[in-house]
Amino acid sequence: MSGGSAAAMRAVELEHSELRQGLRERVASVLASAKSGEGLAETAGELMSFFGSELLPHASAEEATIYAVGAGHKATRLLTQVMLDEHRWLETLVHEYQLVQNDPIRGAAKAEAIAAMFDMHSANEERYLLPEVFRLSDDPEALVAQVQEGVDAVIDSFGSETPADAVAHWFG
Ligand SMILES: [Fe+2]
Ligand SMILES: [Fe+2]
Repeated sequence: MSGGSAAAMRAVELEHSELRQGLRERVASVLASAKSGEGLAETAGELMSFFGSELLPHASAEEATIYAVGAGHKATRLLTQVMLDEHRWLETLVHEYQLVQNDPIRGAAKAEAIAAMFDMHSANEERYLLPEVFRLSDDPEALVAQVQEGVDAVIDSFGSETPADAVAHWFG
């Protein structure tokens, strides 16, 4: 792996690990609220906000950058399609969470499912897609910088909406 590819891998692995931790902490808070019967509106709102400001913007920005490179090469086209499908699954689960967030049991089960799915998806990306895409890319570090710019652009597009409201509208 070239120096640029290794640095790009480290940057995405760090980003994924922060997303996993942020997600796990918020899901744990939702579970604690479900168990105690206290504060569910607040903890569910924080999880929805995390989806809107962190998880879904990451997926969207990735599609416009890393996945666009992957889709453009025969060797990575199918794998990129699998990763895209996983993004659609994640979005579907987030939409379902939005609908059941006030129900302690169904909300907690859905929140756990999203965390498990993101663990699997980010591991698949790191293990299979990213090393190949960075090998094929002229400038892997620039590609990773574009992901961050894309995340910022998604958040800017919310305007005065909160991330939780924005994600509620994400699904139309
Ligand atoms: Fe992804
Ligand atoms: Fe990712």
